[in-house]
Amino acid sequence: MSVKRSSIHGQWSSRWAFILAATGSAVGLGNIWRFPYLTGENGGGAFVLVYLVCVVMVGIPIMMAEILLGRRGRQSPIHTMETLAAEEGLSPHWKLLGWMGVVAGFIILSYYSVIAGWTLAYIFRIGAGVFVDADAGLSKKIFTDLISDPEKLLAWHTTFLIMSVIVVSRGVKNGLEQAVKFLMPTLFILLLIMVGYAMSTDKFVEGMSYLFVPNFELLAEKNFFSDIFLPALGQAFFSLSIGMGAIMIYGSYLSQKSSITFNCFTIAIADTSVAILAGIAIFPIVFTYGLEPAGGPGLIFITLPIAFGQMPFGTFFGCLFFILLLFAAWTSAISLLEPAVTWLVENRNMTRVKAAALAGAIAWLLGLVTVLSFNHWAFSFNFAGSVKENGFFDIFDILTSNIMLPIGGLLVAIFAAWLMSRKSTVEELGLGDGAAYQAWHFAVKYIAPFGVIIIFLNAIGLFRLLGLGE
Ligand code: PHE
Repeated sequence: MSVKRSSIHGQWSSRWAFILAATGSAVGLGNIWRFPYLTGENGGGAFVLVYLVCVVMVGIPIMMAEILLGRRGRQSPIHTMETLAAEEGLSPHWKLLGWMGVVAGFIILSYYSVIAGWTLAYIFRIGAGVFVDADAGLSKKIFTDLISDPEKLLAWHTTFLIMSVIVVSRGVKNGLEQAVKFLMPTLFILLLIMVGYAMSTDKFVEGMSYLFVPNFELLAEKNFFSDIFLPALGQAFFSLSIGMGAIMIYGSYLSQKSSITFNCFTIAIADTSVAILAGIAIFPIVFTYGLEPAGGPGLIFITLPIAFGQMPFGTFFGCLFFILLLFAAWTSAISLLEPAVTWLVENRNMTRVKAAALAGAIAWLLGLVTVLSFNHWAFSFNFAGSVKENGFFDIFDILTSNIMLPIGGLLVAIFAAWLMSRKSTVEELGLGDGAAYQAWHFAVKYIAPFGVIIIFLNAIGLFRLLGLGE
């Protein structure tokens, strides 16, 4: 029996509408802001390599599973999990997986919006020409001045959240397709221009080898699991938008005919290419201007403007770059709100507008904690071989990416591969029961869950306590 549910929230107009929207969700600050700074904090090449392995072995199979569940359930992640669990004769508590996603979504959006606010602020700073011929010292000062002023951060955070609420309240399908269709290719081209600039610097080779060649001396100082594997795994989940229901809800608007496998690979390739290009553009600049790769969350805001200040038409390109980054963040932020909004519409009988406003208000309030993390409330602590200087912001970030998203993904994998009947997943994936299906099934049943579990246990040192492993 094939399941013929339809979503009360509508459906994508075509396969490409889904791919564009999901790519819009995946490509964002995670690729251009988070990936380079984590790479810098966690030692370069080894981190990148492990990240790529995590994307292929864990990320893509789980993404397929999450879309599959979403399309079969066709409701908010909370109701989807409840419905599918009932259908497979499982406990209704599976809806807690949906709930955890909603909570993770609020926490991520709360700080995501603050960082997107920096992007907004930078459009105006670069536009005003303040970076023309700026050196590293000036660039650092401009960044520090911004983040140490809570009022400015609050204003930009508020602006960004209002922008996101407006789009979500009109329905994510309206306008998103058009926006992503033009913006993503332009962002891509601009990144290529930045890579071109990076190639013209003296330290291009050094930057490339930092990014792609694992440095074993540096590795010797680190705990491989907690310092490299866990942050790389977390980044794979964060960047692909998996483990919290965002891709599940987008999957719930996908037509029954569309191929989940093809779509997933397209999205993952686009997402990974943007991250790698951002890395190639940034590290040569870091070395050319004597900056610290482990500079933390300010990395792109300090390095890229120096490059824009040097290159021909830099003010124009710089403005355009941060505008595009803003759009990329925008299309991700709306997917962070969508699971909660659909639940409010389904369960509280709210209009979309009210639901979006309420969800936005919650994320806004929570965002105040992040606003203050960079100034009045700042404190530092040690995590994963690096010093984290921005207290609650770092805690929110680590809690969601390194803990909640992988647990969400683990549960999705267990549900899809261990608990759902094989018949249901064969039917939903539409790959037949041949080698392709079996490869996916093996990855979701064994590689992804055991990968996550082994990384977790090693990272918290349980294996060492038991005298196993290192
Ligand atoms: N993938 C987005 C980015 O890389 C962030 C995101 C995470 C969006 C989780 C939705 C869900 O910027």
